[in-house]
Amino acid sequence: MKAIEQFNGFMKRNGFKAHTIPMSINFPCSSRDAEWNYSDVPHFQFIHKGATATNISIDKHIISSLFIQKIFFLTVPLQIVNTHEDRESHFYYTNAFGLWLSIYTTYEDNQKGCTIRTQYTLWYKYFFQKPFLYIASLALKKNYKRLNQEDGIMRQQRGNLRKDPNLLFLQDKNNIIGFNDTVDIYKSNIRLLDFENISEKLSISSLKDKKYLELESYYLAIVLTGTNIKVWPTICEHEGACLVKEGSQLNNNHESTKLLESCPWHGKSNRVLASFKLSDLENEQTFKHLCCNFRVRLTTEYLIFEKNN
Ligand code: FES
Ligand SMILES: [Fe+2]
Repeated sequence: MKAIEQFNGFMKRNGFKAHTIPMSINFPCSSRDAEWNYSDVPHFQFIHKGATATNISIDKHIISSLFIQKIFFLTVPLQIVNTHEDRESHFYYTNAFGLWLSIYTTYEDNQKGCTIRTQYTLWYKYFFQKPFLYIASLALKKNYKRLNQEDGIMRQQRGNLRKDPNLLFLQDKNNIIGFNDTVDIYKSNIRLLDFENISEKLSISSLKDKKYLELESYYLAIVLTGTNIKVWPTICEHEGACLVKEGSQLNNNHESTKLLESCPWHGKSNRVLASFKLSDLENEQTFKHLCCNFRVRLTTEYLIFEKNN
């Protein structure tokens, strides 16, 4: 029996009534991105502001966590158990102030992206609990809005990356993206396809002129600071966070004004992939990026990117 059936059956047999609050929202992403986002454990401390959490136990299909949640002016400790038994849904439950709360979230692809439906259910037994239902509903709606704003950045970025047929999200091949599939932030879960014939030449004179150039198809940024050329990733190879500061200008010719020092989703440090001095002619370096091996070479006229065998 699935967790939701077991939970609902138990509550009903014990005389609890359900007060449901259905919500739904569309995002321009795939249902796999929504599934990944709901399973993703390490983003919580970097993305969500309304609570702090620690995970007591993590498995593929179930996670048990402790939260300190802000509810209006109160800080409330909660234990939340979250289950993920099939690709289309997450079911979780908790208890606060004597009220049980269960949450059932489903996500399905539509023509423009993905519809995420969330049903909150407050379980109550006594008439005097009714005013609490009203207050809890207000708090849940407020929390729902904030969570969708915070998580929406991640879903939308993944949706944008999926428009590139040359990118593969490796977790898509998993039948289910479990909680414990998300915890290793040093894993590269995005791969470039069609990498065999890469041969990109980046003009040194235009780099001297602009100081910052991107090889968009390969998600690389090239920055000239003084006489130093550095190659940076523009997306995080773990799960695809954007590593370029939004709306930023390159001030003082320095990459720190344009590129993030650490990944905004899971906190991994951003790192230079290759670096040269302008005088390092015929110098060659290799690096791994999006599961592909690159070789980059500096000549008088070009920075040349090729496949490293
Ligand atoms: S997306 Fe996970 S560390 Fe960057
Ligand atoms: Fe989240």
